[in-house]
Amino acid sequence: MDKIIIFDTTLRDGEQSAGAALNIEEKIEIARQLEKLRVDVIEAGFPIASPGDKEAVRRIAQEIRGSSICGLARAQPQDIDAAWEAVREAHHPRIHVFLSSSEIHISHQLRKTREQVLEQTRTMVSRAKGYLENVEFSAMDATRTDPEFLYQVLTAAIEAGATTVNIPDTVGYTIPWEFAKLIDGIVENVPNIHRAIISVHCHNDLGLAVANSLAVLDHGVRQIECTVNGIGERAGNASMEEIVMAIKTRQDLFKYATNIDTTGIYKTSRMVSELTGMSVQPNKAIVGANAFRHESGIHQDGVIKERTTYEIMDPSSIGLAGSALSLGKLSGRHAFRKRLEALGYTLSDDDVNRAFAAFKDLADKKKEITDRDIEALVAEELRTVSEMYHLEQVQVSCGDPSIPTASVRLTGPNGQLLSDAAQGTGPVDAVYKAINRLVQVPNRLTEFSVKSVTAGIDAMGEVTIRIESDGKGYVGRGAHTDIIVASARAYMNALNRLLSARK
Ligand code: KIV
Ligand code: ZN
Repeated sequence: MDKIIIFDTTLRDGEQSAGAALNIEEKIEIARQLEKLRVDVIEAGFPIASPGDKEAVRRIAQEIRGSSICGLARAQPQDIDAAWEAVREAHHPRIHVFLSSSEIHISHQLRKTREQVLEQTRTMVSRAKGYLENVEFSAMDATRTDPEFLYQVLTAAIEAGATTVNIPDTVGYTIPWEFAKLIDGIVENVPNIHRAIISVHCHNDLGLAVANSLAVLDHGVRQIECTVNGIGERAGNASMEEIVMAIKTRQDLFKYATNIDTTGIYKTSRMVSELTGMSVQPNKAIVGANAFRHESGIHQDGVIKERTTYEIMDPSSIGLAGSALSLGKLSGRHAFRKRLEALGYTLSDDDVNRAFAAFKDLADKKKEITDRDIEALVAEELRTVSEMYHLEQVQVSCGDPSIPTASVRLTGPNGQLLSDAAQGTGPVDAVYKAINRLVQVPNRLTEFSVKSVTAGIDAMGEVTIRIESDGKGYVGRGAHTDIIVASARAYMNALNRLLSARK
């Protein structure tokens, strides 16, 4: 069976999603999870973009051994040199050079001639090739490029040493049968195409990214570029979980295999959502909260009699524990640890102890603890950013009529106890103002959302916020049965991220 190379660009194109800024530690954590998932190539970032991006790619290249590590570069000497410096310590390094090929981009953005683009392709691919063997070239906006010119660009890139040529649908414009025809044209008209792997990179502006990526497999494409949860520029990229599960589920049609350990899909999706602060819509294919939920009586009846009546995939194949047993007040540490393992967590004894204490606390307030509750608890306990300020206590008084008032107590950077109080337009505003009086970092709240982790009046609330300071965005998350406490924790989380980024 032919293998399809899964090239994951969650840490590069995914991170370009509006508001999805990740710090270095978070990028490394996601890269480790992608390696566990057995992703073939991890595009770890765009090293020239910022010193932080370059450092993240370098650290990932130093640590990850099971996946190839790729750095993105414009077709510019300084980009290629920076990409090489960042990936050079990887076990299997790759440089990904891109240059626009469409007339719209060439004339309006690059302001160059076609001859100049061809020359730049040759010299810059050669420059990357001078550093390493594994060079990918992308003809940006390929799907809006004159096919005859695209053939010339690809021929030049392969001639100069590109081992993978990527055909990006940069603006999510193409449709499956048109894209398949374009790939056929490339196979027929690029004389040296047999010397390179053909890759695709589809954006989702028309909701066709996954369909377009799958439609070209039978036409010679052997690498698909995608992201976890489909995050990415604008409407996002092709979603990795949808591509992998489509290939696996429809083996009758797709005679291909991927290396992906699909049982890690759910955990990876949760991690990416948690760290980027980008929620997964409930009806999202494969990883949405409703993806394996049956609501109508007829469907429930069918699934009880025989799962396959209404389920085309087994939830366990993406790592959904699907446990019938829920934990509660009387559950012990052993049962809790077993459930953590079933959910794919490998935690140190200290982390298990902290999560167990939080679990007992929650069990006092909530009768039945589900897997989603446990995930929220663990996420809460393991927030990756080290805290400079820690929330010790928050109290509010509010109602109608009343002036919402909050008092908060924090531990500061040197372990000192700090407390203050403030009034606001509502309880959350009052809490945030009280925290601001103590932490004193100017910022603007740009997004605030609250959702319940599970159904039920005793459910935990999960708050996601975004703040902006000096033009940079920071995500914060908090979970608790009391949404004011969850809101305070989310704010502290965002502030701590901001402070740690500045440090
Ligand atoms: O969408 C795009 O064209 C890209 C390239 C850099 C491959 O992300
Ligand atoms: Zn892209």
